[in-house]
Amino acid sequence: MRLITLREASEILGMHPNTLRNWERSGRIKCVRIGARGDRRFDYDSLLEVVGNDQSFKKKYTLVDLFCGCGGLSKGFEMTGSFKTIFGIDNWKPALETFELNHPEARGVQWSLEKRNIDALIKELGEFDVDVVVGGPPCQGFSLAGPRNFNDTRNSLYLGFLRFVKQTSPRAFVIENVPGLASLYGGVVKDRIIKEFTKLGYNVISKVLLASDYGVPQNRRRLVFVGVKGGTFSFPKPTHGENLKQKITVNDAVSDLPSLRSELGQEVMPYGQRVKNEFQEYCRRNSDRLHNHVAANHDDATRRIIALVPEGKNYKSLPEVLRGTRNFHVAWTRFDGRCPAPTIDTGHRHHFHHKENRVPTVRESARLQSFPDDFIFLSSKTNQYKQVGNAVPPLLAKQIALSLLDSFDKK
Ligand SMILES: C[S@@+](CC[C@H](N)C(=O)[O-])C[C@H]1O[C@@H](n2cnc3c(N)ncnc32)[C@H](O)[C@@H]1O
Repeated sequence: MRLITLREASEILGMHPNTLRNWERSGRIKCVRIGARGDRRFDYDSLLEVVGNDQSFKKKYTLVDLFCGCGGLSKGFEMTGSFKTIFGIDNWKPALETFELNHPEARGVQWSLEKRNIDALIKELGEFDVDVVVGGPPCQGFSLAGPRNFNDTRNSLYLGFLRFVKQTSPRAFVIENVPGLASLYGGVVKDRIIKEFTKLGYNVISKVLLASDYGVPQNRRRLVFVGVKGGTFSFPKPTHGENLKQKITVNDAVSDLPSLRSELGQEVMPYGQRVKNEFQEYCRRNSDRLHNHVAANHDDATRRIIALVPEGKNYKSLPEVLRGTRNFHVAWTRFDGRCPAPTIDTGHRHHFHHKENRVPTVRESARLQSFPDDFIFLSSKTNQYKQVGNAVPPLLAKQIALSLLDSFDKK
């Protein structure tokens, strides 16, 4: 028989010692008392038997989400059942409000993550242990600072992430960014990022991942860096595409949502239609009402122009006189219901519903980003679109998290 202390039991199960004391008092678990003070010792095997395979009692890896936005990246990690987000940090309050609503166990902290602010932040957070740090630091600074000057203050947000990792020493980190960073200045910036984290003792690799390869109804590409200490990491293999499951299309993703042809919808409304496929089943698993499904109130002229664009086409299909109104490559694009969507943006209003003459609602955009329907967006509609468009698709993040768990297991 292996006997363990109250503290060990609480750590293994990720439970407060008082809960274990109460369980013992109520006879749910047994312990022996030893020594003059009558300290508790629990039988390890019978404890595990009591909690069985219940995922909620499994010890979870702790996660800090830097530049968290609404928290799409950390949501995907949590979906594995093996990670618990403890802090989400961002300097934008509306996103933090959404983050806190959807990560009830985590604390949202409003902080500006420049390098010079990191030590004070860590002090503010108090005592904590972090296993994984994730985040997508904005990288506008790189192109301005030039190829060689990595330490330029304009890169300060990247340096902030680096400083946080240096000071907290997690087992692993994940950085997400736009794919253009991979080729910026012929790859110099990417190599420099790898070098800086390697100096901290991490084995770092990077890859551009395509979200639709992982069951996200969207052809969004993102550059991902993963660093692990004392182990190796392999990027997840695609789950969808040729010779695999079929990619999820726009129609698969939203066809159960109420049509808004003749009304604007509401912040909260009933579904009205049944689930039609596995993806919709996933979205609606924990939700019995629909949130954030409100159509834009386009003027008649705009609606008439949208009506002229066939499914899957763009401004090139418009009559000559209208083409010049917005003539860059994504302008006036109607989704193709038979394919994954193009990259969901932060609400520029250039993409339209595959059947209806309007931009997608926040909920439709969130579906195309693979957010489940119980993930609710707060603040103004403009801010909601921005939070959705900024996010890492949770189902993509989940696959990265599963590969990280493999890497931890191997170690
Ligand atoms: C691409 S978004 C992150 C999205 C997030 N990873 C997700 O999956 O939902 C980048 C975030 O960085 C935040 N940000 C920008 N400058 C910042 C700063 N100086 N300090 C903290 N956060 C900042 C923005 O408010 C934005 O929410």
